Amino acid sequence: MKGVILAGGTGSRLQPLTRLMNKHLLPVGKYPMVCYGIDRLRRGGITDILLVISKQSAGLYTDFLGSGAAFGVSLTYKIQEKAGGIAEALELAEGFIAPGERFVVLLGDNLFMDDLKPYVDGYLRQPKGTAKVLLKPVDDARRYGVPVFDAHDSAWIAYIEEKPQHPKNGYCVTGIYMYDTAVFDMIRRVSPSQRGELEITDVNNIYAKDRRLSYDVLKGWWSDAGTFQSLREAGEKLKDMLP
Ligand code: G1P
Repeated sequence: MKGVILAGGTGSRLQPLTRLMNKHLLPVGKYPMVCYGIDRLRRGGITDILLVISKQSAGLYTDFLGSGAAFGVSLTYKIQEKAGGIAEALELAEGFIAPGERFVVLLGDNLFMDDLKPYVDGYLRQPKGTAKVLLKPVDDARRYGVPVFDAHDSAWIAYIEEKPQHPKNGYCVTGIYMYDTAVFDMIRRVSPSQRGELEITDVNNIYAKDRRLSYDVLKGWWSDAGTFQSLREAGEKLKDMLP
């Protein structure tokens, strides 16, 4: 099992700070944001990790993280030349994952306290060619992807609505996904959205349509640290999480 952390993007909601450095290097407690995802994967037993980063700040990533050895992991880096969406960034992982292998994808700004191991173990028991997403109840689901559950078998998601005006429930699809190499074929089937990006929700909806998208619900604290308020709250919450 490998891990992929998507840590590129422009971080437009965190300007002007993100004109200085990539969002995923901004401080959260004592460490840059990206370290928390690395820590969650390592504790979940996943130490072979690909970081997809942008050209901006590439040197800062390698300066701080190096090979990953100091963090108990082995890091590989890939550069996403321009921000073209989460699914486009994920496509860069294709050469890193062996045929048929399974992997966990984290959006680098998704910070959480749950142990990934039970969710990963559950995913490993699922049939080949299926995927899993992790959900979290949130106060305002309109900012996120929102799952609609299969009416006949609630173990599966029927579809995901991306940033709906009127969410059908209070769950958000977090940026924690599990796939096997079938996902790369799915990515090739999606077209750019209205904002010109390959959307991960479109990819997940191909799985959902065939009843191949399962889920678990995170039990502990979760946040996406994409705004100044959530960044500040995350820093406070996680200040003692890493040594
Ligand atoms: C992305 C996904 C969305 C998900 C969110 C979690 O949104 O498109 O489905 O709920 O991450 O952080 P973004 O933050 O890129 O707008």
